[in-house]
Amino acid sequence: MGRITLTGIEKAFGHVEVLKGIDLDIGEGELVVFVGPSGCGKSTLLRLIAGLDRPTGGRIEINGADVTRVGAADRGLAMVFQSYALYPHMTVRQNLSFGLENIHMPKPEIATRIAEAARMLEIEPLMERRPGQLSGGQRQRVAIGRAIVRNPTAFLLDEPLSNLDAELRVSMRAELAALHDRLGTTMIYVTHDQVEAMTLADRIVVLRAGRIDQVDTPLGLYNRPANLFVAGFIGAPNMNFFAARIAGGQAVLPGGLAVPVPGRAAEGADITIGIRPQHMRLADPGAPALEARVTLVEALGAETVVHATLADGERILTVLPGQPGLERDAVVRLAFDSADLHGFDGAGQRLPEP
Ligand SMILES: Nc1ncnc2c1ncn2[C@@H]1O[C@H](COP(=O)(O)OP(=O)(O)O)[C@@H](O)[C@H]1O
Ligand SMILES: [Mg+2]
Repeated sequence: MGRITLTGIEKAFGHVEVLKGIDLDIGEGELVVFVGPSGCGKSTLLRLIAGLDRPTGGRIEINGADVTRVGAADRGLAMVFQSYALYPHMTVRQNLSFGLENIHMPKPEIATRIAEAARMLEIEPLMERRPGQLSGGQRQRVAIGRAIVRNPTAFLLDEPLSNLDAELRVSMRAELAALHDRLGTTMIYVTHDQVEAMTLADRIVVLRAGRIDQVDTPLGLYNRPANLFVAGFIGAPNMNFFAARIAGGQAVLPGGLAVPVPGRAAEGADITIGIRPQHMRLADPGAPALEARVTLVEALGAETVVHATLADGERILTVLPGQPGLERDAVVRLAFDSADLHGFDGAGQRLPEP
């Protein structure tokens, strides 16, 4: 059982409010990712759930029991940190067994759990080494192993892959996903990396400045971002945004191109239109299009990132498939499907469905 319920969680350090009322229900076995820019309160929230710190307001429940005032050791959760936090003078085996010996678990049970975790994480050949003799990826495996042997109600992971190089991060990410599938244990995973969030999560919680902006599945966030911040944060490269005005029931873009309004908005309203770089293509001759001058071409082989500016100077980023053979200063005409447009009101909130 690993259901975690947060109700009205607040946290202030002195006069600084860091968390401003967090409500969230995490289901048994879910892999939930907290994502958001640096300083938005992700680690603070995770530490409150872990019991390493106390909220200044609100309630934390695990499987229906109020644990708000229960110490970290008695919550049955296991935390994994970016820094690994291994004991440098102990071997891998001792790092894994230390916590279990502390709670006086019988030796045979400890041995069984360690053997199982070591096999799962493929660290059996490393058991007699010290952390100093391990690579970053191996150290993080040991840190995860130390969490696994405790057989926790839930895993709490705070940017566990941030210290690894890009390639290793991708493979460890896949391993963590497989591990979650195998164990079926609730996981809360904190990252500032939206790709990590998209690839790992059952549900993503987008935090901004101490509040939850949106909670949804990865594709729910991608397809229906609730506001400009989420729209800009999820998806790479970032979504393009253009100021537009509703005239004659259509949204008029810079340069005068009129497109269907993606949602409900009043005549004369100023809105923002969003379109992802991957959702644009070179227009057929004569078809309605946004005209732009190319400022930079990044040819990646399988796709080409085209930086350009519209007539009024607004920048636009396009990801075109393949190698379209464009060069700087070329004039391109860009088209898109109106179904791929996103609309946001003056306050940055997604326009209601039409
Ligand atoms: N112990 C603390 N004392 C004072 N301020 C803190 C403390 N811990 C975190 N903060 C502040 O709370 C905010 C959120 O921090 P944190 O939760 O670490 O963000 P994130 O993990 O999202 O990068 C930051 O502005 C940080 O400076
Ligand atoms: Mg953090």
